[in-house]
Amino acid sequence: MRDTDTPAPQTIHLGDYAPVPVTVTHVDLSFRLDPLATRVHARLTCERRGPGEMVLDGEGLKALRVTLDGAEISPVIDGDRMTIADAPDAFLLETEVEIAPERNLALSGLYMSNGMYCTQCEAEGFRRITWMLDRPDVMATYDVEIDADLPVLLSNGDLVGDMTEGHAKWHDPWPKPTYLFALVAGHLVPTTHSFTTIEDRAVELNVWVRPGDEGRTAYALDALERSMAWDEKVYGRAYDLSVFNIVAVDDFNMGAMENKGLNIFNSRCVLASPETATDSDYANIERIVAHEYFHNWTGNRITCRDWFQLCLKEGLTVFRDQQFMADARSAAVQRIGDVLTLRARQFREDAGPLAHPVRPESFVEINNFYTATIYEKGAEVIGMLRRIVGSDGYAKGCALYFEQHDGDAATIEDWLACFEEACDVDLTQFKLWYTQAGTPRIGVTEHFASGVWRLELTQDVPPTPGQPEKAPMAIPLAFGALDDGGAEVLETRVHVLGTATEVLEFEMDARPVLSMLRGFSAPVILDHDQSDADRLVLLAHDTDPFARWEAGRALAKDRLMRAVSEGRYFDAAWLDALAALATDGAADPAFRALALALPSEDDLAGSLHAAGVVPDPDAIYAIRRRAQLAIAERLGPDLDALREAMRVPGAYDPSAEDAGKRAFDATLLRLRTMTDGGTAARAAYDAADNMTDRMAAFTCLLEAGDETVAGRFEADWKDDRLVMDKWFMAQIAHAAPRDAVGTAERLTTHPDYDAGNPNRFRAVVGGLSAGNPAGFHTPDGRGYGFVADRLIELDRANPQTAARMSTAFETWRRWDADRQDLMRAALERMRDGATSRDLIEMTTRMLGD
Ligand code: TRP
Ligand code: ZN
Repeated sequence: MRDTDTPAPQTIHLGDYAPVPVTVTHVDLSFRLDPLATRVHARLTCERRGPGEMVLDGEGLKALRVTLDGAEISPVIDGDRMTIADAPDAFLLETEVEIAPERNLALSGLYMSNGMYCTQCEAEGFRRITWMLDRPDVMATYDVEIDADLPVLLSNGDLVGDMTEGHAKWHDPWPKPTYLFALVAGHLVPTTHSFTTIEDRAVELNVWVRPGDEGRTAYALDALERSMAWDEKVYGRAYDLSVFNIVAVDDFNMGAMENKGLNIFNSRCVLASPETATDSDYANIERIVAHEYFHNWTGNRITCRDWFQLCLKEGLTVFRDQQFMADARSAAVQRIGDVLTLRARQFREDAGPLAHPVRPESFVEINNFYTATIYEKGAEVIGMLRRIVGSDGYAKGCALYFEQHDGDAATIEDWLACFEEACDVDLTQFKLWYTQAGTPRIGVTEHFASGVWRLELTQDVPPTPGQPEKAPMAIPLAFGALDDGGAEVLETRVHVLGTATEVLEFEMDARPVLSMLRGFSAPVILDHDQSDADRLVLLAHDTDPFARWEAGRALAKDRLMRAVSEGRYFDAAWLDALAALATDGAADPAFRALALALPSEDDLAGSLHAAGVVPDPDAIYAIRRRAQLAIAERLGPDLDALREAMRVPGAYDPSAEDAGKRAFDATLLRLRTMTDGGTAARAAYDAADNMTDRMAAFTCLLEAGDETVAGRFEADWKDDRLVMDKWFMAQIAHAAPRDAVGTAERLTTHPDYDAGNPNRFRAVVGGLSAGNPAGFHTPDGRGYGFVADRLIELDRANPQTAARMSTAFETWRRWDADRQDLMRAALERMRDGATSRDLIEMTTRMLGD
């Protein structure tokens, strides 16, 4: 049961925004670090901006002293708020507090990881360090002094003087909100490069790691330099300090954090070597390094007025990292990957009880809103805006935004106004993308008669929690057409669908094949009853790589869904088309890997549910296996020849080209394992000289039921934390569904299991709840019970990660009555057992009552 004396969580509303009456323009901090008794002395330069009391935020602080202009005062401290009633127009507020970083297991505020001190202040962690106006519209310059018996002492901005053993001073000249504050102290070693900006500023770039990890920093540094050059070239944005530091931390709640001049990374998202990281790890590192770097302008120089505007920095920065990756690698492969992520995470969120607009109107705990909707759909909204105003218009709008709002805490309205002004467009209807939740469904019907091709387009935005009715949105639909021989007869054009129903007409000699939603021009679900024949034409010939891949995906999805619900089998036409693609030497191997990948179990379950069929997790699992077997049998001996052709000679290179070959080889190996019981995978495991090939073979062998490979892997890698995360996760995710819970339970008793480390916790608990759907959803409810128990336990130490992972239950209304009952019971148990407002809010919203 919940503590009766815990106050009911407060709901915060966008409409209630009011600027502070008294602001802080400069922050002077001094830290004397100690695991259990760190002293924080803060001197805040305060200025009155309007009438009212000054209310500071503080959480779990032991207050030692408060003075105003040097005179000791005793302000009212009520829980997490300190009120200064009659503040003068300008004054200096000093506080001294004591905190215990070693006891901070929430990994928010100042905490310790392997003997190293580090901070995480977004969104509201600064208040766990000292008293302050902990909100993004209060921007101040910072001076920070650190005393500790440690060699490396870092904070934001530029170093003042030298970093002598035990003492350092930093000055950050750029006004910033509290959430961008950072401090790191420990035994760390740097890898250093230098970069000269387009404005001729010399910048020292450092990646700081624990001794022993120096050999894994090169790729991140390289990605950082390329990001800096790219942002100068594409957005005209240059870096603005003399040093840029990145620090790797083992215990971290998310991927990384864009603190001004001192980015802090989950070590998983920065450290890589060929022996320990996979191609996906490399790509992920490249993307996240770029993402955090890009925040320097979209987030830091221009920040958010309040947390409701979170997508202003996150959606835009994700869009920028996607653009960067498309330029650095294959644009086609990048786009398909981005859409896969969007559908897997955001469409699922949008279809369930947690659906919310890209700009929410209320929240209880802001940490619960770092979601796929804010990030991924937020990025899609930027992409649509760019499509509507064109690439030149987009460049003009961005330039105006940087010019007008540099140094501001801005809003979505500010952002859109720049485009209205620069491009002379009316974005009133477009703004609905920020305020209406739910994935629009686009209906397409085609008619052809007497030389006229008619397209009837409809849109429907489904109801979501708190939003029963929706207005029609402005939806950019890119499309083209081919003739039935595959030649393009209509080049890509964009129609912005703005009403519920619209008709387009074209004069054509014959009925063409429609290629709709090229490049996935809008985050919508397409209801288009296209024939297999048309889809096969698109799969073989479409000039738009996304639409080409999507045609294959639609064919596969259709077959898998019908196999589950009607017991049909797989037809030769489909298998022939897949075989043709697989053996098409002209096609990019990475594209072939994507084209042969089947829709995920979760994707199929969501689509079946949307089609009115109650999904059966076991049947979905079994059908996907049968489809893989059918593809493997159809490819037959081609499989081995194809694998031979994918061989990558020479030393490991994380390039997109080599990674594409390895990805396709892994796809083929998985198919081969369906028919040879693991012989090829065993050979591949023994031959692997990099972690990408090794993991591919390892997971195939786990699926084939090999009983010795896990032990061999462990013996080789037991001392490597990041590699062992893979070992923990793979054994659960690739277990047979009936063994998955047992494996997860067994692994929680392994001596290296550590629930306090989010990566390890996610490997084991997420390995089941996200990695093995049929194992999580076994009809006895054991999977639900296991995950709920672990989350209730974790919630006491680390509410952020517990709440984030509770989304495993967001699909509960999808399933049959028995599973719904079991999942609801698990949710109720979590809600009643939760102690944080994070997990209480999430479970309450999921239950929907
Ligand atoms: N702003 C960070 C990013 O997108 C993410 C972030 C938000 C975060 N809150 C966090 C990271 C808490 C770690 C912990 O890049
Ligand atoms: Zn971000």
